[in-house]
Amino acid sequence: MRGVETRTQSKLIYERARQIIPGGVNSPVRSFREVDVFPPLIVKEGSGSLIRDADGREYIDYCLGWGSMILGHAHPAVVKAAATQMEKGSSFGIATLLEVEFAEKIVSLVPSVERLRLVSSGTESSMTAVRLARAVTGRSKLIKFSGHYHGHVDSLLIQAGSGVSFLNREASSKGIPRGVVEDTLVFPFNNLEILCDFFRKDPKASDLAAVILEPIAGNMGVVLPEPGFLEMLREETERAGALLIFDEVISGFRVGLAGAAGLYGIDPDLTCFGKIIGGGFPLAALGGKKQFLDALAPLGEVYQAGTLSGNPVAVTAGLATLAQVELAGFFENLQSKTDRLLTPIREAIASRGCKACVRAQGSMFSVFFGLREVLCKEDLQHLDKECFKKFFRFLFENGIYIPPSPQEAWFLSTAHTNEQIDFTANKAVGFIYSNL
Ligand SMILES: Cc1ncc(COP(=O)(O)O)c(C=O)c1O
Repeated sequence: MRGVETRTQSKLIYERARQIIPGGVNSPVRSFREVDVFPPLIVKEGSGSLIRDADGREYIDYCLGWGSMILGHAHPAVVKAAATQMEKGSSFGIATLLEVEFAEKIVSLVPSVERLRLVSSGTESSMTAVRLARAVTGRSKLIKFSGHYHGHVDSLLIQAGSGVSFLNREASSKGIPRGVVEDTLVFPFNNLEILCDFFRKDPKASDLAAVILEPIAGNMGVVLPEPGFLEMLREETERAGALLIFDEVISGFRVGLAGAAGLYGIDPDLTCFGKIIGGGFPLAALGGKKQFLDALAPLGEVYQAGTLSGNPVAVTAGLATLAQVELAGFFENLQSKTDRLLTPIREAIASRGCKACVRAQGSMFSVFFGLREVLCKEDLQHLDKECFKKFFRFLFENGIYIPPSPQEAWFLSTAHTNEQIDFTANKAVGFIYSNL
């Protein structure tokens, strides 16, 4: 695309990267393969809602570290807190008061969480959740939903969303043993009937350790739970003696202080957190009921550990972020920014009568082309990927960066200005009128 001529530094850096880093990137979606943009974005710095690439081009950022940067980049309070902590030492591998304060904060905000174990990535959190569920139930099977992504854990990389949906449509990544694949049962999201049938009739239900899901799916684009779906899962898992694991790595502190669990009034057994809680640093957590979390070592026999777990700089940045998120009016402000962006886009889609739709919960949302409704991954077979590619490139050329895949969530931060939002809405509406 046109960016090739104008992004000469980015191209040089990417060529160097490809000589030494597999595929030139440290996480597959960063390669921009799904949108055929070469070179991919090579970022140099970010401030507020803007990022600047290696060639000095600026973009309004709607990816925001894949949802992590809810305050925007380099928020002064977060920078100050992290820098101050770095002067006092950045890694000890020993218990600190900071991590106690952090756990107290999360427990005070999320009603289903009585105990919290800190880890360094969302992947570690879901991996630990699965191990814990198997240990406390003495069972092997897991249920996950197609298109949901829980990190690159063997047992959860089966029909996963996000970057994996592009790489491997059918089953898992290569390198996952057959037995692991067989222990993971995959169901379509939002299909009450198939799940009820499983719980009522399938003998495997008696070996079910847990159901894990993104209560608001974000890794196949934003797909909301149908009314009654989460409630049914809660009831059926309880009846079956299996755990309900909410993966709120995206939705936690994004859709409200108590996440999707708070929004829908569900009481999961375990909850995975990540992204926002680390304020841009590698911090994630597994929370849940005391009776389950206390099975972790050293109290119990479920092993889990980490050199950088509860890292003091990450925890400090996380606490500084949560202090902002807790301020009165925080989510209302984000909601009104989101409405300002999405209302004109929705109106343009309606007035063109075209096959497209917007799905949103708070400040996480997606625009789907080629579909009027989306309830599960299976609906995405009609996704108009070519149209998305064109849309992405058009926005990118105009200094607007959305996630480089049609099956990802976009995000807004408190740093986005009305002017930037109106500019983005005008461009998106212009695209819809000229192309759909
Ligand atoms: C819902 C969800 N769970 C888990 C993960 C894995 O988190 P991480 O990339 O920090 O390992 C992600 C990553 O995007 C995610 O979106």
